[in-house]
Amino acid sequence: MTPAGTSRRLRSNRYYGGYNQQALVRNGHMQALGFPDGLLRSGKPLIGIANSQSDLNPCNAHLGEVAEAVKRGVWEAGGVPVVFPTISLGEANMLPTTMLFRNLMSMDVEETLRANPVDGVVLLGGCDKTTPAQLMGAASVDLPTLVLTGGPMLTSRFRGRTLGTGTDARKLADEVRAGRMAPEEFFAAEGCYARSAGHCMVMGTASTMASVAEALGMQLPGTSSIPAPDAARKQAAHRAGRRIVEMVHEDLRMSRILTRGAFENAVKVNAALSGSTNAVLHLLAIAGRAGVPLELDDFDLWMRDVPWLANLRPAGEHYMEDFHHAGGLPALMRRLIDHLETKALTVTGATVAENVAAAECFDDDVIRPLDRPLGIGAGTAVLRGNLAPDGAVIKQAAASPGLMRHRGRALVFDTIQECEAKIHDPDLDVDENTVLVVRNCGPKGYPGMPEVANLPIPRKLLERGVDDMVRISDARMSGTAYGTVILHVAPEAAAGGPLALVRTGDVIALDVPARTLVLEVDDAELQRRRQGLPERPRRFERGWAKLYEDHVLQADQGADLDFLVGASGAEPHGGDP
Ligand code: FES
Ligand code: MG
Repeated sequence: MTPAGTSRRLRSNRYYGGYNQQALVRNGHMQALGFPDGLLRSGKPLIGIANSQSDLNPCNAHLGEVAEAVKRGVWEAGGVPVVFPTISLGEANMLPTTMLFRNLMSMDVEETLRANPVDGVVLLGGCDKTTPAQLMGAASVDLPTLVLTGGPMLTSRFRGRTLGTGTDARKLADEVRAGRMAPEEFFAAEGCYARSAGHCMVMGTASTMASVAEALGMQLPGTSSIPAPDAARKQAAHRAGRRIVEMVHEDLRMSRILTRGAFENAVKVNAALSGSTNAVLHLLAIAGRAGVPLELDDFDLWMRDVPWLANLRPAGEHYMEDFHHAGGLPALMRRLIDHLETKALTVTGATVAENVAAAECFDDDVIRPLDRPLGIGAGTAVLRGNLAPDGAVIKQAAASPGLMRHRGRALVFDTIQECEAKIHDPDLDVDENTVLVVRNCGPKGYPGMPEVANLPIPRKLLERGVDDMVRISDARMSGTAYGTVILHVAPEAAAGGPLALVRTGDVIALDVPARTLVLEVDDAELQRRRQGLPERPRRFERGWAKLYEDHVLQADQGADLDFLVGASGAEPHGGDP
């Protein structure tokens, strides 16, 4: 019998039990960590703590301390904690984009879990891609798994105003370029930009994915929004450590939590948060690993009548810290409860409904009541048409109402570099009705789908007060950005999508309420243009970039690698020699 009274043999017992040579080698080596004789033979669950801390990723810089708190909880509950590092993906530093490496990180997490004798795992992520990468990798192994994101950084303050990471960087850069801000003031703002470790504190991709992890049932209720430096985060980490040991004894695996209902909850919560469009890609990829059917159209259908309740930047006004003190995700989910799949099981062992039944809201401006939403069905809409046969998305809450139905002449850039080189040219033939198009920025095309979809507004229009235009691309957009931006166009230009056929001067018609995106050029002409398209040369001859270019799926399938979709379980490849 194990300490919890179950007779189930733990995965780790296979490695550490018995009297053979391997058992001696394994136990002996682990004793080098200071584990006393017999500890790992005693049947206590071995709990992995996947730590994506890195000095190259300041958002995750504090995860070592968080891991220490998780360890205390694991010890207290009768488990044995082991921390292991994984790849980390620092959004602020990596080129061309962290998204190029999300799938690589997921492989690191997956193979580390499968090859090592852990019985359960706590995933410590935070910065944008780290949370989805961990969820993807862990889902392909399917151990008892609990997510603990690192929490948002403190709200930044600068000369009497607040600053939102990402969101205000663009504004400050625009101000200094337009001559409205002195360079000294710009540098002073830089010094106030990130007040602590933790991920971006607006409802960008990191806050979105942390919330999504909680909405999926993978993170303890109320923990995703605790500010990174808050003592409550270490307390939550301690509780997470205790809980993962129980989950191992209960054999509460990820596959019991990641049901279609869990994904429905995540999509709806993301709509109520007005969260990042990146969540669409990540949820599709996670569902692909978990074997849960999920399609782009599910997002549009599920979010249609969901009230937008969280008044958070970039679409709203407040910050993650405010959201946390208003009651966080449990308060929001309680208000949303009639829209949710309430029976979905979570890491607590209880259902979503049980988890949030007693949740209170302490600030109705930050988390709006149902009778005072910021919008209805204002989440990420899915568009289709001859320009995006496999779909494209738009974050409605970040778009201008006056541009949601729009016809305009296309101005096409073949690359983002071409766009950047020409966009501010005073002689550029562009006005506020022009539809800006940039292509070759998709998963294969760039590679990695950089967050460039919110193309800059031409300076000559900015100076006339134009602050938004319709922009279309196969790229992504940062969760901290805004504008009438149509992104994730699939198939991408580099995969032969119709986006490759658009020419400057063509008319494009957008109708978000009707969910259409149409290139007003007849099929025969498009066919002629397709025949004239040059063959796209291969760009990468070796290494990760080659593997990625050869195997990445399109945006509507989550941009995972084709051979990573699905799961292979926790059995080591080839077994135990
Ligand atoms: Fe890491 Fe924004 S840069 S979350
Ligand atoms: Mg981001």
